[in-house]
Amino acid sequence: MSIKISRKTNEIIIKTANTMYVMGIKFGKFPVHLYYGRNGRGVKYEYKSPVTSFSPYFEEHGYDYFPDVAASEFSFFGYGDFRADALRLRDMSTGSDTTMFYYKKARVLKGRVDIPGLPCAEADENTETLELTMVDEVTGCELKLYYTVFADCDVISRYFTLTNRGKNPVKIEKCMMLCLDIDKDDLDMISFHGSHCFERMYTREHVAPGNRSIFSRRGASSHQFNPFFMLCDPKATEERGDAYGFNLVYSGSFLSEVETEQCGKTRVLSGLGSDNFSYLLEPGETFTSPEAVMSYSNRGIGQVSRNMHKFTRNHILPNDRFEKRPVVLNSWEAFWFDIDEDVMTRFAAEAAKVGMDMVVMDDGWFGGRIDDRRGLGDWWPNPDRFKNGLGSFIDNVKKSGVKFGIWIEPEMINPDSQLFKEHPEWAISAPGRELLLSRSQAVLDMANPEVVQYLKDRFEETFGGLSIDYFKWDMNRHLSEVYSPTLPPERQGEVSFRYMKGVYDLLRWLNERFPNAMIETCSGGGGRYDLGMMKYSTQIWTSDNTYPVARTAIQYGSTFGYPATTMSCHVANHGDSVENARQLEYYYRVALNGPLGYEFDILKIGDTAKAAISKQIAEYREYEELILRGELYRLQNPMKDGAYSYYFVNEDNSEILLSYLQAFGDKKEKTNKLKISRAETGATYIDTIGGNTYTGEDLRRGIEVKSDKDGGYARMFHFVKE
Ligand code: DGJ
Repeated sequence: MSIKISRKTNEIIIKTANTMYVMGIKFGKFPVHLYYGRNGRGVKYEYKSPVTSFSPYFEEHGYDYFPDVAASEFSFFGYGDFRADALRLRDMSTGSDTTMFYYKKARVLKGRVDIPGLPCAEADENTETLELTMVDEVTGCELKLYYTVFADCDVISRYFTLTNRGKNPVKIEKCMMLCLDIDKDDLDMISFHGSHCFERMYTREHVAPGNRSIFSRRGASSHQFNPFFMLCDPKATEERGDAYGFNLVYSGSFLSEVETEQCGKTRVLSGLGSDNFSYLLEPGETFTSPEAVMSYSNRGIGQVSRNMHKFTRNHILPNDRFEKRPVVLNSWEAFWFDIDEDVMTRFAAEAAKVGMDMVVMDDGWFGGRIDDRRGLGDWWPNPDRFKNGLGSFIDNVKKSGVKFGIWIEPEMINPDSQLFKEHPEWAISAPGRELLLSRSQAVLDMANPEVVQYLKDRFEETFGGLSIDYFKWDMNRHLSEVYSPTLPPERQGEVSFRYMKGVYDLLRWLNERFPNAMIETCSGGGGRYDLGMMKYSTQIWTSDNTYPVARTAIQYGSTFGYPATTMSCHVANHGDSVENARQLEYYYRVALNGPLGYEFDILKIGDTAKAAISKQIAEYREYEELILRGELYRLQNPMKDGAYSYYFVNEDNSEILLSYLQAFGDKKEKTNKLKISRAETGATYIDTIGGNTYTGEDLRRGIEVKSDKDGGYARMFHFVKE
């Protein structure tokens, strides 16, 4: 049993394999937070009510409960708690925003409660969910807080439902699913910021007094901030110290706040925020929030990452559709928009010869799409480029012995398209204002179910009878002028959220309609690299930046919250690097951090490079299981240490794949000591690449790797226990 409700002590205790979470019900009405940390002997916690001036209180409870300083399971706006709030509700009959709910009851449910229309983690009936019901007699609303326990990976998820059981409409004005009051204020925050081509750049900083937020107001989780972040003890390292990880199972605009308070605590909030969100609830209506997740470990930052990896692999990702992940050859960096039936057929034949498994026809195959100014929305094959349609072309591709994948960007529309001529009102724009374009495109109103249905019908017609093995679903602009003519003025704050529900609806449909095709999502590279997308896509295109040195930083940052199995990595060809044996080797070693692919014009590659690529693919197959399902240990930070080093290890420590990738500032000569703490003492390991034998102690003390003054250098070791 992972959840225990004690009526005697008025405590609720949640346990995972290594962590414990405790709340208490104070005065029978306030759910207070008591503890989140390691599970085991000697754990101590107590309710504290520090006395502070300038803090309003309930006469009845006096100094024993100050809303302003109590550690709370959920925080409400405007009723004595001046810290950042999780829920702000407007009573539409009075205009009052003062929000308060009181505890009513708690029960434990078997399994999990599904979230209608939104992605959520999967769990079987052995999972338990705590349901905490709270009520507000003023508005008549009922709030249910859910805590689902993923004990195997030390993760607890949170989400809520709000039902208007009153007589008047109410409006949710701020929605944060996760609220955690940590009983300390000396913490570091690790977050991942960036831009297009530089996603998930690692930052670690001490949490200064005040409120620090990460967010997206872009209608997508974004390149600019990833929703995953961590808090840790300032002394915490990869393998030591207290660390917490937080994430959202959602792909749209979000807000996460970390706020210190006057009595030494830190409040953590994560959710939809208020900038791109409000939601009207008429009497009888229910709103269900997306899911947020958290994990804790006293064994360092790396362990929290591994918890998140396991959680994603076991509870988020769809099952692999093929026995092995296909090694793809993608047409984008080979031809950009300049593709047709002939070139793609030759491309496929050559891919098959070197041992690749799949050819992906990227942008440029549909409507009038000959460049990025036209065609989006017209999802039928370009008749000039595919004279006999897609069917016979795909058959020919498959005859060469490769699978076939195709690129789509369903959420977008170019003003220069047939679809725009027919439905200009389907492009998101603000009434009376000029339509803004980005990459010459506008965004389709996915909050309008008619648009989603149109796309389903259109894709059915185009792809219905075809043998497609893979869809690459792209998204190349963010949402501005957010407005939907299908909703009344008082519901316009719902558009961003409803847009995401429309996207998820179409993604679900695509998965169900094409059960044998795998989906890779993408948003100008890794602009929607989040757990929401991962629910429907086996892997995500990590970044449009395919320069390996830059990739070391992007991949390093990505591994904090997400497993390698989601991180699509391609070997590209910059300035003929593929023809240079040393460079090809470096590009490939960098790409071995996730499912492998290639992206260049193979028709122009010489035989030596082709032979090397065939060897790479064969070698990748040897390590694939370890890369996609092994446990990851980071050793060096490419932006600080001049190299990105890490290893994958299997469960019983019998196989270890160690990578050393020189990165930024990589031309200084230096000896790096790479310590493998998972190597077993007393065991002997053979490096199947270098041929040397090591004891477990040797590996634990550290393998020495000298950097190379010429840069662009990689080493790999594959240790197998004898
Ligand atoms: C952005 C993606 O990240 C690229 O890989 C490619 O698919 C282009 N879009 C195509 O327009």
